[in-house]
Amino acid sequence: MLTVTVDGVPLHYRDEGKGPPVLLLHAFPLNGSAFDAQVKALSGRYRFIVPDIRGFGQSSLGEGPTEMSRIARDALALLDALNIDSAVVGGVSMGGYAAMALLREDAGRVSGLVLVDTQATADDAEGKARREANAKQALDAGLEPIVEAMLPKLVAAGPDSPPGREVATLIREASPAGVAAAQRGMALRPDSKDMLARYAGPALVVVGEHDAITPLAKAKEMADLITGARLEVIPGAGHLSNQEQPERFNAVLDSFLSSLQGA
Ligand code: MLT
Repeated sequence: MLTVTVDGVPLHYRDEGKGPPVLLLHAFPLNGSAFDAQVKALSGRYRFIVPDIRGFGQSSLGEGPTEMSRIARDALALLDALNIDSAVVGGVSMGGYAAMALLREDAGRVSGLVLVDTQATADDAEGKARREANAKQALDAGLEPIVEAMLPKLVAAGPDSPPGREVATLIREASPAGVAAAQRGMALRPDSKDMLARYAGPALVVVGEHDAITPLAKAKEMADLITGARLEVIPGAGHLSNQEQPERFNAVLDSFLSSLQGA
């Protein structure tokens, strides 16, 4: 198992494939296995660096809320440990928040940005209160209420479909403490619209056609802010487009990544 220790916290990651480095940050409350289909299909051409975000998968949690800037600094420390100066940085949903936080921390490390089923806006007061309630519920009642509440919103094909079952398995691998810390960390994230407007590098924004959590309007808002960004809608996918429609998603990702090599 590959591990990097950042500020005393051991974090697990995968480093697979050959080619330009691509760092992928997973959604809440999943783990790096959410990118299995991308690594399997595309690691012949790209080097995928896929951490389990702290508190998820095989990574330890650490103290306090899992702020998006904390995830970003963990990811930068991982790139340092691997001697990677810059990488394409991509993230799905919470991973997208963290990718934007990484851009804020050190834009010079980002050779391309991939924002998937995510949004640039911060939570309003109601959203923050909901996250605190969800954090307490995870600590009090465990993961099953989360599986029940989130799964229908995450996967357009529904909980009993193959991607629905795959996502449920990943949610059940999470820990209540990791879930609570991430909910509290997401509530603290700043608005990233100003930062996207300043970003001058290549960008791909992807959204599932049926994404009910961060819908097309959120994706358009991000794509409109970034000069030259590509916006792609994945037909038949919900909020986790890379898992629900991996072939369509991989084609879009591959096309973007290969365009960077020609640039
Ligand atoms: C995710 O998929 O990472 C979450 O739905 C993001 C969020 O709760 O805002």
